Amino acid sequence: MRVTASAPGKITLFGEHAVVYGYPALVVAINKRIYAMAESRSDDVVKISAKDLRVPGIVVSYVGNEVVLETDYGAVLPAIAYINKAIEITSEYLGVKRGVNIEIKSEMPVGAGLGTSAAVAVSTIAAYAAVNGYELKPEEIADLGWKVEKAVQGIASPMDTSITSLGGFLKVRYKDNAVERTPISIGKNLPLIIGYVEREAKTRDMVALVRDRLNRYPDIYGRILEMIGIIVEKANQALTSNDFKQLGELMNLNHALLEALGVSTRKLNELVYIAREAGAYGAKLTGAGGGGCVIALVPEKQDLVELAMRIHGSMVMKTELGDEGVRIDKVEIS
Ligand code: MEV
Repeated sequence: MRVTASAPGKITLFGEHAVVYGYPALVVAINKRIYAMAESRSDDVVKISAKDLRVPGIVVSYVGNEVVLETDYGAVLPAIAYINKAIEITSEYLGVKRGVNIEIKSEMPVGAGLGTSAAVAVSTIAAYAAVNGYELKPEEIADLGWKVEKAVQGIASPMDTSITSLGGFLKVRYKDNAVERTPISIGKNLPLIIGYVEREAKTRDMVALVRDRLNRYPDIYGRILEMIGIIVEKANQALTSNDFKQLGELMNLNHALLEALGVSTRKLNELVYIAREAGAYGAKLTGAGGGGCVIALVPEKQDLVELAMRIHGSMVMKTELGDEGVRIDKVEIS
């Protein structure tokens, strides 16, 4: 039996990093997906193939605790860790342990801040559960996915795994030992342009950097995170009332605070300024930072802003927002 499941990437509109410390974040699914194909095996070998992760391919077999690499290009190894943990945690949850071939395909650049790790984990969980005869609810998959992220990264919020599991637009918050996942209504299509510059640091390192600074200066960094939380609440109101001017201002403020946290880079800052000067109402980095993506709110002069961002050397992506969460795309019985 072969099952293909998929899960979308995401853009964090407001609140990244602060969400790790119990503040809310606003996040949206995009129409670029990760596909996980799971094929049942008669033995207990788990074979993972991630040839299409926009980095050179790798095929890894795990036999018991032994790892067998068929080709080795180190860049994919982090993605493999998410797949391997997803199978381990789902096996424990379901009480099944069967061999499987997993193949991953991606429609977006991996590690760019678009939530690919969460989408890899969540699509793998859904496909592996389904090939073993279990249909899990999106919330269950989100909780398992969060466990995977925490196991691989050390620290993670439930934001990325929630949005890739449930899809749409969400306000996510971890409060009083429970994950709140509230759908948010967005009146008009948000006119966003996404720019991508090379990633210099991993999510895990950027999250650790913020934790370290917070430990050293809790009264300063604690207040920055708290202010981001306030921005998120105001942005939620501006989003529902389609107030693009205010939304732009709040994006600029959120970016300034991310810069104060230390997660922006010179290239990201330049891209933010270029987008604003060319006509964006607001622009900010999105995701963990250390390179990666910038979002610009551009209700008018879109061609000009896009051109300015391209001239700066960034890759520009267009995507529809609010895509469906995790889903089973295909079941084939041989
Ligand atoms: C990464 O996409 C977002 C961060 O807030 C980390 C997390 O929420 O786990 C930086």
